[in-house]
Amino acid sequence: MKTKAAILWERNTPWSVEEIELDPPQRGEVLVKLAASGMCHSDEHLVTGDMAGITPEPPLIGGHEGAGVVVEVGEGVYSLAPGDHVVFGFVPACGRCPSCATGHSNLCDMAANMAVGTQVDGTYRHHARGKDIALGVGVGTFAHHTVVHEASCVKIGAEYPMDKACLLGCGVVTGWGSSVYAAEVRAGDAVAVVGCGGIGSNAIQGARLAGAKVIAAIDPVEFKREKAMEFGATLTYASIGEALADLERSTYNRGFDKVIMCMGVGDGTTLGEAFWLSGKRSRTVVTNIHSPAEQSIAVPAVFLTVFEKQLVGSLFGSANFRKDIPHLLELYSQGHLDLDGLVTRTYPLEEINQGYADMNAGKNIRGVLVYD
Ligand SMILES: NC(=O)c1ccc[n+]([C@@H]2O[C@H](COP(=O)([O-])OP(=O)(O)OC[C@H]3O[C@@H](n4cnc5c(N)ncnc54)[C@H](O)[C@@H]3O)[C@@H](O)[C@H]2O)c1
Ligand SMILES: [Zn+2]
Ligand SMILES: [Zn+2]
Repeated sequence: MKTKAAILWERNTPWSVEEIELDPPQRGEVLVKLAASGMCHSDEHLVTGDMAGITPEPPLIGGHEGAGVVVEVGEGVYSLAPGDHVVFGFVPACGRCPSCATGHSNLCDMAANMAVGTQVDGTYRHHARGKDIALGVGVGTFAHHTVVHEASCVKIGAEYPMDKACLLGCGVVTGWGSSVYAAEVRAGDAVAVVGCGGIGSNAIQGARLAGAKVIAAIDPVEFKREKAMEFGATLTYASIGEALADLERSTYNRGFDKVIMCMGVGDGTTLGEAFWLSGKRSRTVVTNIHSPAEQSIAVPAVFLTVFEKQLVGSLFGSANFRKDIPHLLELYSQGHLDLDGLVTRTYPLEEINQGYADMNAGKNIRGVLVYD
């Protein structure tokens, strides 16, 4: 079939919205008509090359934070049927590999082909201008339709608005899980969140719901700091330096129990600075992306020993999306989790470049593409 998608033909060029040819779903795959897609910072890394070497080369279709309706299922699909509403997991969850079997489906072995951008079976369904087009981050939600493996979808209730539900495909689960699962925020903890965009705003919501006593939101953009207070922050700072200077007031000089890194692009020097925010037996969680070319971080290793500080990474919130997406939608419908406040502005697919310009200018918590 023919449909429309935003393609990146070369690094550091605008997304090109054009017609593509989409093959029918093969064995184990589903065709989904997308309703909405969030514009996560991770797709911007595809444009800039921040993650070169571990992400697909252009030409590629971006987008991984999507929701839509199943239109057609391939042979052997047993958990989904046409008409089902779904949100994607940008990492598939096969349910059978060692990671899935031990409750870490965010690290599913079925994701092996994500680095080259093919389907799970190593072939392509998306084509344009006579070429195979890779999937930038697993699913290709910057398009009106996509074909993905059944393992990349979770069914959700038809009552949820798609332009909010799509955010569960990455930002909400990633941020929430960075606090609740990776950092293991506990009642009474003092938490610092560095970078308060789409991911950090949800790290703040996760910390609040987990019972943190102090939540310091650190971001140079005033609008992000104002929104952070709405999501549950108790203090805000324009820089890590400002937060360091105020440790006496925020933590009685003990340092934060949990520090969660959610900047647009991480770097070793800033991570090193943020490490000084953390106290004895603290945990610093690296959720933001660092360039794979960066080979060192400015962390004094001795404090891992003498203060038992921990430094851990987190992918997709260290969550299990089949459980966590429906769970977080329930928290939304019960009024505990704010999804509406995350969507600053919506755009049609044709305005995707404006959406990313707004993200880079610090104007959006999340910009969301909404399709007809
Ligand atoms: N680990 C994962 O599974 C995962 C999933 C999704 C996104 N990410 C990554 O998380 C990061 C954040 O993504 P996002 O969509 O929230 O991006 P975003 O652009 O919406 O937000 C980033 C925020 O960081 C702030 N910032 C920039 N420099 C800063 C600094 N020195 N100190 C404090 N704040 C600073 C910006 O003002 C902005 O508000 C990106 O690197 C993204 O690729 C990781
Ligand atoms: Zn698996
Ligand atoms: Zn993302």
